[in-house]
Amino acid sequence: MIDKSTLLDLVNGNGTPLIVIAHDLIKANYYKFCKYLPNVKPFYAIKANPESKIVKTLYNEGCGFDVASWEEFMIVYETIEGNHEEKKAFMNEKVIYANPVKRIDSLKKLNEYSIRMTFDNYIEVDKIAQYCKNSRLILRVDVPNTGSVVELSTKFGANPKICLDLIKYAKKAGFNVEGLSFHVGSQCSNFDNYIQAFKIAHNIFEQAKNFGQELTFLDIGGGFPVPYDEDVPSFETLAEVINNSIFQYFDTPKIRIIAEPGRFFVATTAIAIVEINGKAIRNDKVYYYVNDGVYNTFSGTIFDHIQYHFKAFKEGVLKESAVVGPTCDALDKISLNEQLPDLNIEELLYSENIGAYTNASATHFNGFPPAKIIHINI
Ligand SMILES: Cc1ncc(COP(=O)(O)O)c(C=O)c1O
Repeated sequence: MIDKSTLLDLVNGNGTPLIVIAHDLIKANYYKFCKYLPNVKPFYAIKANPESKIVKTLYNEGCGFDVASWEEFMIVYETIEGNHEEKKAFMNEKVIYANPVKRIDSLKKLNEYSIRMTFDNYIEVDKIAQYCKNSRLILRVDVPNTGSVVELSTKFGANPKICLDLIKYAKKAGFNVEGLSFHVGSQCSNFDNYIQAFKIAHNIFEQAKNFGQELTFLDIGGGFPVPYDEDVPSFETLAEVINNSIFQYFDTPKIRIIAEPGRFFVATTAIAIVEINGKAIRNDKVYYYVNDGVYNTFSGTIFDHIQYHFKAFKEGVLKESAVVGPTCDALDKISLNEQLPDLNIEELLYSENIGAYTNASATHFNGFPPAKIIHINI
């Protein structure tokens, strides 16, 4: 982790609110993923944190990317090296456009590539056939998201019962569907979701084979949980579950397997530092008003359903306190249950595990700009 004196030095040079991202830790997460899942190639889901310096670090390590929009596609395109033809080759092989429902203007722009993209319904096949016929299709199947913090299956994924029909429909439209994708839900600590997902995918692979079409590509999505608290089961345990399922159902490397880890690569690699701007006692509790909040770095409180915690730089007797953001909105309360010493205005707090779905969804609400981001190696 980044030590306190480094954080204080960075605050001296840059002010607050500040997000410090440690790239050695991003690399360590990438290495851990590759070590424990040797048959799965990671494609970083850049939505978790689209900073191009993060894309660059992972690109240098050989990572692929999952993009969800033309704009995210361009972040990768502009970060990687080479002339247009070299970049095009990279985008076609090492990027997946993993948004099952795409904007038409994006499809038109993507038609000069033959990029892999996911779909999960008939109308999307028609759209892709009309506007982006050079793409390669991956069918997103609905799998259980039980207990995951963000349940994506409420919005995406074809019912397994219609998957073969969708593969046939795509074939008539001129596409040989290459394979399947699934997502067990973000921050998934219920590993049974993965077991069920592999089983469902295997059945569809078998159905396609019996129909005469070999699927060769499996995208196991994201969901790899981050230790925001001690109850989250370990990545090593999950890797064992995944490796067992791959061994049971899929013949690698004949079947190419990729994943789209988002938060797993970045959440633990960043710290936010905020300054106390105000202090009040409400219902016998101390409320600290800080210069960053739910509309900025701590937007994950709402969009990502994550509870962030704070620590002080100074020591003292701890008591239950609230930490709230700077805007006039009552929604802008980051936490009502922090254990903090008695602090004064202009003193600092920090919050760990702030790298995923935080600055990615920050706004300018009430005129407060998002936190400055600093990239370091530790
Ligand atoms: C299609 C897709 N892939 C990957 C991810 C990243 O998931 P995670 O951050 O849980 O790894 C998401 C998150 O919403 C997603 O929608």
